[in-house]
Amino acid sequence: MIRDIQDEIIRLKKEKNICILAHSYQAAEILEVADYTGDSFQLSVMAEKTDADTVIMCGVKFMAETVKILSPEKKVILANPYAGCPMAEQMDKELISSVKEQFPDYTVVAYINTTAELKTICDVCVTSSSAVNIVSKLENKNILFIPDCNLGSYVAKQLPDKNIKLLQGGCPTHAKITEAEALKAKALHPEALLLVHPECVPKVTEKADYVGSTSGIMNFAEKSDHKEFIIGTEVSIAEHLQYKCPDKKFYPLSIDLMCHNMKITTLMDVLNAVNGTGGTEISLSDDMIKSAKRCIDKMIELG
Ligand code: 13P
Ligand code: SF4
Repeated sequence: MIRDIQDEIIRLKKEKNICILAHSYQAAEILEVADYTGDSFQLSVMAEKTDADTVIMCGVKFMAETVKILSPEKKVILANPYAGCPMAEQMDKELISSVKEQFPDYTVVAYINTTAELKTICDVCVTSSSAVNIVSKLENKNILFIPDCNLGSYVAKQLPDKNIKLLQGGCPTHAKITEAEALKAKALHPEALLLVHPECVPKVTEKADYVGSTSGIMNFAEKSDHKEFIIGTEVSIAEHLQYKCPDKKFYPLSIDLMCHNMKITTLMDVLNAVNGTGGTEISLSDDMIKSAKRCIDKMIELG
């Protein structure tokens, strides 16, 4: 049955010149029908390159907005209308405008997990894979990093010459993992390397053998000669790695590392988005696209 649905999605997307983008946290049956899969930086680059008329995003809303900002002429559909990122909604334009007034000589660096509206008043975007590199290339020493204080403090640690101001935001899924859970997982699997996403709290990233984005973690595990890994990011990554490397062992750092927003998209949502009966079209004003695009372009240029 799943195979039949996948075949229909593949037939329809070819017929209608649709490109399907899927974040790596999506289910395996969705990744199989996608044209491109990857982390948020890779998807934003692919979004700009594809010449499809319509792009279907299997991920969360800010990712679909990023595609629309980079390709306003394309029809962009978020496969499941309820898939949002709670972190992206934590800070709004009003709050950050008032913080900017207090710190006028700071460059505002926005994690890509922010709304299109908030991006309009920021200077540059970063993703987890590009944050250290991009912040290191900024001329200004003074940086206001929003919204993720865990990614921000990871960047600050790598770049001690920068003066990085953080606010209290972050990913509720990654940030709830505790140092005790990291220690417990290491004790349970003493031969395994601990690979952790920088959205985790510093006490967890400090225990890691490798800290990196979703694709950074996947590449590290695939290339490593090591045979066992504790995966400190969304649980789906341990599953996907197990398919890619059947001779290695992958243990989720915690079963609580599950992003319900990423998990809400189903293969049927993808079919309904492709056949025109489901999903939600992303619509942003021309002004918003123009203003938000500046900081995404800057990210692509510097990254
Ligand atoms: P990546 O940039 O690693 O894909 O992270 C996106 C995300 O939402 C992680 O929680
Ligand atoms: Fe947002 Fe966290 Fe889910 Fe990523 S894992 S989409 S940052 S809530």
